Formats: sequence, structure tokens, C-alpha cells
Amino acid sequence: MTQRVSILNGPNLNLLGQRQPEIYGYDTLQDVARKCADLAALFGFETTLEQSNYEGQLVDWVHEARENAAGIIINPAALTHTSVALLDALHTFEGPVLEVHISNVHKRESFRHHSYVSLRADGVIAGFGVEGYELAVRRMATLLKSD
Ligand code: DQA
Repeated sequence: MTQRVSILNGPNLNLLGQRQPEIYGYDTLQDVARKCADLAALFGFETTLEQSNYEGQLVDWVHEARENAAGIIINPAALTHTSVALLDALHTFEGPVLEVHISNVHKRESFRHHSYVSLRADGVIAGFGVEGYELAVRRMATLLKSD
């Protein structure tokens, strides 16, 4: 069966392409979903991309991933800096977890410098724009191969 990688996105990322484009660019989340799926296909796995503005929904998707995903790529958005619940959920997931931020959070306000999710992530990508998602797919391919 083809392996699936779950790409999860937190609050406000549904507005990607419209929201502060000077920071996040003009690509939409749909563009990201398509680019990642095309790239993953070259490596022989599938990606699905989901977004929610609700913390509990993201926690539920992480729980679902325990049953049916080989890895998780996550941009937790603002929940990065606040959510112990999401960190705890990710701790229950056994496969690789990669954290993506479109912007370079370290160049921004100090409250964006700390990430709860990084305590679980196997790798973190920040400041590469939406290309960061594709870089994460590439890295995921390596990690799944060496499983
Ligand atoms: C973000 C950075 C977060 O600080 C912010 O709250 C976001 C997006 C990024 O992709 O750069 O919503 O995760």
C-alpha cells in the first residue's frame, strides 16, 4: 500500500495568498497541496494537506495520523508558540515529524522564537517561503527510506 504523509496547517493558513503577502507570499494552500503531492509522487508516496483554525481539530488529525500516516509535516502557525496540547499529540505519533514555517520566525517578534512543536520535530524549516513544504517532502522521502 502507498505510504501517506499528512501535511497539517494551523490557524489563518486558509488565507495563504491573501494574508500578509509581503510575509507569506502569493501562493495559496491549494498550490502548496498540489506541488507537494506531485513531488511526493516522484518519491513513491502520497501527501494529503489539511488546514484548521481549531486546535482540537489538529489534535484529532494527529491522532488519525497514528493509524494511517507514515509521517507528518506540520505548520502549526500561531499554535507553534502556544500549544502544549499539539505537542502532546505529536509525542503520541511514532513516525517522522517535520515542522515548517513559511517566514523566518527568528527574524520576527520574540514571541515567535519559541516553538513547543520543535520539542518533538525531527527537523525544522523556516524562512524558505512555501518552498519549505517541498523541502520537507524531500526530507520526508529520505527519512521514510531509511526506516
Ligand atoms: C508561521 C509563523 C507563525 O508565527 C505565524 O503565527 C503563522 C505562520 C509561518 O508559516 O511562518 O501563522 O507558522
